Amino acid sequence: MLKDKKILLGITGGIAAYKAVELAGKFIKCGASVKTIMTKNACEFISLLTIKSITHQAVITKMFDVEAEIEHISLADWADIIVIAPATANIIGKVASGIADDLLSTTIMATQAPKLFVPSMNVHMFENPIVQENITKLSKLGYFFMEPDQGMLACGYEGKGRFPSVAEIVYFTKSYIFYKKDLNKKRILITAGATRENIDPMRFITNFSSGKMGLALARAAHIRGADVTLISGNLNVEIPYYLNNKKTYTAEEMFKLTVSSFTEKEATFMVAAVSDFTLSEISKQKIKKDKKLNLELIRTKDILAELGKLKSEKQILVGFAAESENIKKNARRKLEAKNLDFIVANNLDKAGKDETEVIIIGKGNENKIAGDKFSVAHKILDLVFGKKIAHG
Ligand code: CTP
Repeated sequence: MLKDKKILLGITGGIAAYKAVELAGKFIKCGASVKTIMTKNACEFISLLTIKSITHQAVITKMFDVEAEIEHISLADWADIIVIAPATANIIGKVASGIADDLLSTTIMATQAPKLFVPSMNVHMFENPIVQENITKLSKLGYFFMEPDQGMLACGYEGKGRFPSVAEIVYFTKSYIFYKKDLNKKRILITAGATRENIDPMRFITNFSSGKMGLALARAAHIRGADVTLISGNLNVEIPYYLNNKKTYTAEEMFKLTVSSFTEKEATFMVAAVSDFTLSEISKQKIKKDKKLNLELIRTKDILAELGKLKSEKQILVGFAAESENIKKNARRKLEAKNLDFIVANNLDKAGKDETEVIIIGKGNENKIAGDKFSVAHKILDLVFGKKIAHG
């Protein structure tokens, strides 16, 4: 999603400025072209040479440079997106107040490209009502903000204010080049990962699901403004800090939590790989080895089929089918049997991978989509919510 995109990186003067070096490198790795504006204070933290060596492009600091073109206008027109990372309370305050007194604030004022701020500062500064009011004001005007991460801050305080992981900033950047907050406040329920059924205190039965597709959907929907509830089983990937996650273990636990969360949701995506069987009896003691072991398995409840029964006219219900053969035929059967609006079918050979290829089958329509799971997630959202596919 970033290939050949033009990113203007604005670095302001916070300790996290050194992390902008890694961010610039990641943008370049994704195929983007990166030009950088550093404020005077940012130059106290990192050197121009470091950024220039990574981006192989101009790093500009001065408003008035007789050698240059009229930089603030040319950069403002050049950019597909401006990412201000880290964004200090000062730059947020200046933009919110309409101040344009240096190259970065002037360029932000002059551009029509999307603007993404990545605030990073001391927790008390971030929670200061003046900063919060500025963020609210700018958000209403269509400027984008990432929520800071929680944890130990450079100033020694513990709390909200940390610079997010570079990978997360890249997801937000990719999204805001193509999308606005078009799923604003939609209540979306997403299940992800694999359930586990205990055999004894030591062992369990599970499956290969990594949770990557479910998390990609949850992340994409959140970034586009949806109010996402994630219900997760076992995942091989980290859950983004900004998602509201409810952890479950067995199919029965996931059944209870999903059914009880379903009623007020506008759309539900059942991406989790739910065990179809559980043990008729769980051994309280560790089972000792013998020549043979027979386990009696009984059926679990089908969560999606239950949601299909509970579903109202207004609710959208999406199932996922990982198949090893007769993909379309099996998926269509599940679409009908479970009363779904869409089913996303894919071949089991993509489980656990970063790339995927899916067929989204609705009532009377069918679309094939391939790519990395995050970009496929965005396209699934486009199709399910009746939007034009925005990229690639
Ligand atoms: N599913 C569910 N509860 C189950 C089993 C599956 O909610 N106990 C959901 C999955 O989350 C998925 C859809 O049903 O969205 C299809 O799951 P899949 O495993 O492909 O198919 P099954 O319905 O279990 O049928 P089969 O195993 O025979 O292919």
